[in-house]
Amino acid sequence: MANNNYWAYVAPSSIPNIVTDVPGPKSREYNARGMKYMIGYSSQVTLCPVVFDRGHGVTLTDVDGNTYIDFSSGIYVTTLGHCHPKISEAVARHAKNLMNCHDFNTPVKVELLEKLAQVQPWDLTGMQLYDSGTTAVEAGIRVCRAATGKSEFISCFMDFHGKSGHSVSCGKMNATNGGGRSQGFYMVPRPYPYRPMFTKANGDIDTDAYINFFGEFIEYATTGNIAAFVLEPVQGWAGSVFPPDDFFPKLRKFCDERGILLMADEVLTGMGRTGKYFCMEHWDARPDVVTVGKGFGNGFPVTGMLVSERYKESINKISASTSYGGNPMACAAALASIEVIEEENLLDNALMLGEYFDRRMAEIKNNHPIVGDVRGKGCLQGIELVKDRATKEPFPDAGKLVYQKAFAKGLAWVPAGHILRMSPPIIMDIDVAAKGMDIIEESIAETEKELGYC
Ligand SMILES: Cc1ncc(COP(=O)(O)O)c(C=O)c1O
Repeated sequence: MANNNYWAYVAPSSIPNIVTDVPGPKSREYNARGMKYMIGYSSQVTLCPVVFDRGHGVTLTDVDGNTYIDFSSGIYVTTLGHCHPKISEAVARHAKNLMNCHDFNTPVKVELLEKLAQVQPWDLTGMQLYDSGTTAVEAGIRVCRAATGKSEFISCFMDFHGKSGHSVSCGKMNATNGGGRSQGFYMVPRPYPYRPMFTKANGDIDTDAYINFFGEFIEYATTGNIAAFVLEPVQGWAGSVFPPDDFFPKLRKFCDERGILLMADEVLTGMGRTGKYFCMEHWDARPDVVTVGKGFGNGFPVTGMLVSERYKESINKISASTSYGGNPMACAAALASIEVIEEENLLDNALMLGEYFDRRMAEIKNNHPIVGDVRGKGCLQGIELVKDRATKEPFPDAGKLVYQKAFAKGLAWVPAGHILRMSPPIIMDIDVAAKGMDIIEESIAETEKELGYC
């Protein structure tokens, strides 16, 4: 992609460009005003409260004129970079023509549905469109109930699926999540290769033991009335936790044997982030229901739920439409995004970047004792920091310091306690990716020094 005519080309030597303290004076002034009212910011903001003014391709610029390399894509959203001209123009065209007509078909909606049917590799030809990942997940849960006539759901420790009723019941339950899990929602451990709960005699992770446990769990902890397993293909919020390659194929078989549906929540992983349209394509495991969001509209709020041909009539049973789902601007953003992925061969670019990240992350792990684990596919990457490699004790103080130091040097990215998450746009050049990784390695080295590790 290193091509001077590319719309988002930026000379690697010109970025990042940090000209004030981070946050600078104008950011501080805006924050003093905004934070008087707006409550509940994420740690991404509270740890580095800069105020962004504009985005272009792989860069973000704040109100003080500091330009950052973007390793966050917002929060896994602007997968194709900020303000791709084709996507911005498509949204603007429809903003001038027709913004909303409830769930009537429009030409652009029909084109999007046809395109989505073409890029999904399974038989997911039943579709509905929404405006947030959470709403799509809620609809997916209702469809699974309607399709099976069963009511219970199983999801996995550390999964995240949204912040409302049923979606929150498929995630980690803590004090911030209200009054507890909805009835009929259960959680089981899933394989976390760096921190396995079930291992073989040789210490390797034992996927079969997890699957066997699921069987026992269903027998002893549920009524056996399981509609679906609801899972993230890769756990994003938990810190880019990738399952072993045999997990999803074995889970698919387990579900088939019991008449349980497999719902893959691809809100974070979908639409190119891991080098495939759908992350589940990395494994031989066909999902029955899939949700997409975030990168689907590359910044415009549009999400979707796709259901297997076999169960698609169930969508009729759930009163599926919403006020904003599938509005013309949203469809235009999603359609243009898929076209950009195709026209610019971006799945291949994501895979190539992933190979670079793999090599670079392995070196970083080799050179730095506080790095316990590194993992990723395509442009979905994570670094797990530990106090001691032998005990694997999480190191959140180091996570915070590395995040803040790298941000101050010009890298916008995503913290998660002791885990650092990277989700750069898949349009990035290797040279820019290398600069981002240099900043990360420098920040880890400085943190180790500060915390007495060398
Ligand atoms: C896997 C997954 N599902 C659902 C959601 C909820 O999406 P939204 O924030 O658009 O409601 C998220 C958000 O981070 C997510 O990562």
